[in-house]
Amino acid sequence: MSREELTKIILPEDKIPKFWYNVQADMPNPPAPPLNPRTKQPATPEDLTPIFPMGLILQEVSQERYIEIPQEVRELYKLWRPSPLYRARRLEKALDTPCKIYYKYEGVSPVGSHKLNSALPQAFFNKAEGIKRLTTETGAGQWGTALSLACKLFALECTVYMVKVSYEQKPYRRIIMETYGAECIPSPSNRTATGRAFREKEPDTPGTLGMAISEAVEDAAGRDDTNYALGSVLNHVCLHQTIIGQEVKLQMEMVDDYPDMVIGCCGGGSNFSGIAFPFVPDKLKGQKIRLIAVEPSACPTLTQGVFEYDYGDAAGLTPMLKMYTLGHDFTPPGIHAGGLRYHGDSPLVSQLFHDGLIEARAVLQKGAFEAAVMFARTEGIVPAPESAHAIRVAIDEALLGKEEGVARTIVFNLSGHGQLDLAAYDNYLSGNVQDIEFSDEALQESLKTLP
Ligand SMILES: Cc1ncc(COP(=O)(O)O)c(C=O)c1O
Repeated sequence: MSREELTKIILPEDKIPKFWYNVQADMPNPPAPPLNPRTKQPATPEDLTPIFPMGLILQEVSQERYIEIPQEVRELYKLWRPSPLYRARRLEKALDTPCKIYYKYEGVSPVGSHKLNSALPQAFFNKAEGIKRLTTETGAGQWGTALSLACKLFALECTVYMVKVSYEQKPYRRIIMETYGAECIPSPSNRTATGRAFREKEPDTPGTLGMAISEAVEDAAGRDDTNYALGSVLNHVCLHQTIIGQEVKLQMEMVDDYPDMVIGCCGGGSNFSGIAFPFVPDKLKGQKIRLIAVEPSACPTLTQGVFEYDYGDAAGLTPMLKMYTLGHDFTPPGIHAGGLRYHGDSPLVSQLFHDGLIEARAVLQKGAFEAAVMFARTEGIVPAPESAHAIRVAIDEALLGKEEGVARTIVFNLSGHGQLDLAAYDNYLSGNVQDIEFSDEALQESLKTLP
């Protein structure tokens, strides 16, 4: 069989990249520095040490193009990496498109998503500096699940604040976290002062990632043996995810192909960064390639937000980040893609978007599920509702190619499987998923609270 006929494009284990790619080395305009929320001056490494280990702080500010992946992390990556790149032949056929569609499948990780790519190094660097316990937030539960496993593998304790609406929608993710030995608390909770304040202000709040971050940060800052880990947004998280795109480049070489466009769903921006950033140098050198971030219309950070400094959390405890934001007070509607309900976006993604190097699209919930179901019925994998947003745009582009009679090569990141998101599919299949737009009034109110 010729390489062009492959359905699964598989790299051998010894091709797992040995370095992460740091896009900061190549950006025409560097991202603006994070600011200390009290002094409003650029945050110093010392400002960050109460909650992050120095190993990760150095990665956050590094300008080195390549950063070595520690041997211990590479050994653990072997549990599922290199992940397969698939040619979606059956989807192409169903669409009757001349386009080629490839998807990188990150759902083969033990926890079912790309999140473990960063959870492992974050646990590793914390352990190396003597930390005993990590706290974090989680939306859909994918990040919390990944950090729970990473903590267990590096013998750390783990407490996860899970956004209340997802905690209720997705009980199985809590059970997996507990199976890995972590503690999982619905947020906002009574455990922290910020959690109690959110509950008092809005007793029926569905919770937000911003609130859960505030609780996890407060918890970590209050204990010397505890640090905080973030599942997206920050530079070091996007860095860790670049293992995805580096593998994709090798896999595309194996079939003598190159993408016209690379698509990823975008919550805080980490899986999109992971697949897209390794292509940025090619684009800067003049290669014609489009990098498309897809967000939900219910939380349209890049497409409708403002590019300003804002807090990363709802209570204003974190450093201020220059990013596209809907305002840290914004409560996105409780859509099923819980991992995409974040008010801000990665400063790296934001800067590149601002500079026109990446594009953004917002899609409605029903359209995302329609695409996900079509994908499941052709390729067999039930996608995470977050990943469904990328599939929607991949399908739309393949249909556009058909209309225009142009055979483009489309690559998207299937960031996770949705086997624990079946309540969402049940809702969709029984006609109970609504296209929720957010209220413009709420957005304007929230933008007034920008620092
Ligand atoms: C499967 C999956 N994809 C995507 C995301 C969005 O996060 P990010 O933008 O950091 O990749 C999440 C977040 O929870 C997720 O679980």
